[in-house]
Amino acid sequence: MEFTIKSGSPEKQRSACVVVGVFDNRKLSLSAELVDRASGGYVSEIIRRGDMEGKLGSTLLLHNVRGTLADRVLLVGLGKERDFRDKEFRSAVRSAVKLLNETGSYEAVFYLTEEKVKRREVGWRVEHAVLVAMESVYRFEQMKSQPTEVRRPLRKLTLSVPQRSDLGTGEKAAARGLAIAHGTDLARDLGNLPGNVCTPKYLGERALELAREFPDLKVQVLEPAEIEALGMGSFLSVTRGSDEPPRFIVMEYLNSPRKAKPYVLVGKGITFDTGGISIKPAPDMDHMKFDMCGAASVFGTMRTMLELKAPVSIVGLVPTCENMPSGRATKPGDIVKSMSGQTIEILNTDAEGRLILADALTYAERYEPEAVIDIATLTGAMVIALGHVAAGVFSNNDALARALCAAGDEAYDRAWPMPLWDDYHDGLASNFADFANVAGRAGGSITAACFLSKFAKKYDWAHIDIAGVSHKDGKEKGATGRPVPLLATWLLAHEGSPA
Ligand code: BES
Ligand code: MN
Ligand code: ZN
Repeated sequence: MEFTIKSGSPEKQRSACVVVGVFDNRKLSLSAELVDRASGGYVSEIIRRGDMEGKLGSTLLLHNVRGTLADRVLLVGLGKERDFRDKEFRSAVRSAVKLLNETGSYEAVFYLTEEKVKRREVGWRVEHAVLVAMESVYRFEQMKSQPTEVRRPLRKLTLSVPQRSDLGTGEKAAARGLAIAHGTDLARDLGNLPGNVCTPKYLGERALELAREFPDLKVQVLEPAEIEALGMGSFLSVTRGSDEPPRFIVMEYLNSPRKAKPYVLVGKGITFDTGGISIKPAPDMDHMKFDMCGAASVFGTMRTMLELKAPVSIVGLVPTCENMPSGRATKPGDIVKSMSGQTIEILNTDAEGRLILADALTYAERYEPEAVIDIATLTGAMVIALGHVAAGVFSNNDALARALCAAGDEAYDRAWPMPLWDDYHDGLASNFADFANVAGRAGGSITAACFLSKFAKKYDWAHIDIAGVSHKDGKEKGATGRPVPLLATWLLAHEGSPA
């Protein structure tokens, strides 16, 4: 979809559709008021008849409204004016875009971006209108033999800003929103692909393809022998039972004008998690194709930054493999040596994400990073703790955790701080190795983060557990692309920041 920014009166737009808001209860927004005046009170007459109350997300499509130059006027309910916040704004945009996509308009001029949203400026409204519009029309149909056809899909949205002086801000925000949406779409596509297509090898190829599309990106895809040579015994222990060879993907985008140290993103890339010898129960095991969504979010965030040519240095690291049972698979009780030299007793082969991340975190040391963020569908316990709303953030630096959560708030891709206190480490004690890969059931997402922290002592680090937010179940089953918006927002706040 294409987006442009404009400033002008709704009744003067030559367009297939002009989209204006109505507040609950029957209160016209300023732009609806302008249409009403031009039409000699036609809109308020319709509202008086009770066809549009202004309930959030409701819509009413009018044709040939006299006094206007557009073919149609779409009224969109905004809910109560004093409650019009982030969620309500996004929900109104979603309703409008869905309707436009299903009806005859190829193109529309959008006035919802002129409505005041509490604590948000025009740039935020434009960026989020773009993000929500793109999210609303996303489809994953590359695996269907007969993709469903949208007869007259929405191709172009013109977003209106209140003043001519807002045009520059609006254009920048639209470009930013579109780049974040493209990154999110990439993460969703990779997440939605099945495990028999999206293998470690396939992810390596997609990384090389990204580098071909964006020459600013340098990509290296390490194969088993090279991973072995690095001493990644923890990572390799997870791949033993699988016939698909692992890959370790390194993506470098070093574009800080001040040659600042890079931010390193590490994504869990388990392309399918059966649990290994500690095998998972059959119901819903197909969800474990989403166990590479952390890796997908690294791909997506890279894409966003590349598209924007952001003046910041970022390295993406993706350890990727399958977790399968077999005669060669790692067994409970096996002890392995990580790249850091620390030994690990693997008590549960289903706690594999932390094993592949451990060696990637050690690999990250070579960049003397500004900070390292790992993103992983790490624990079922995270879903129990924060549900499907917020991701959990664990960090050895409180300011870093706060900055990530603030970025999540701004991006409407929320994350919430979790503790990492020493007291939680005790459960990982082992009589045979330096420590075990699991503790008890209690506080499972925190002890998992404690395990990771043992490999992240040399830099500022945060771990984002996205098990609850990376994908949805039910009618909307599929990858969400989260937390690409959070990560991109956080990184863009560091543009050209000094070391
Ligand atoms: N990939 C899973 C975590 C997961 C569960 C992600 C549900 C998304 C939805 C992870 O590898 C896993 O199996 N974790 C175990 C850890 C346990 C064995 C300590 C879990 O959470 O049960
Ligand atoms: Mn597992
Ligand atoms: Zn897993």
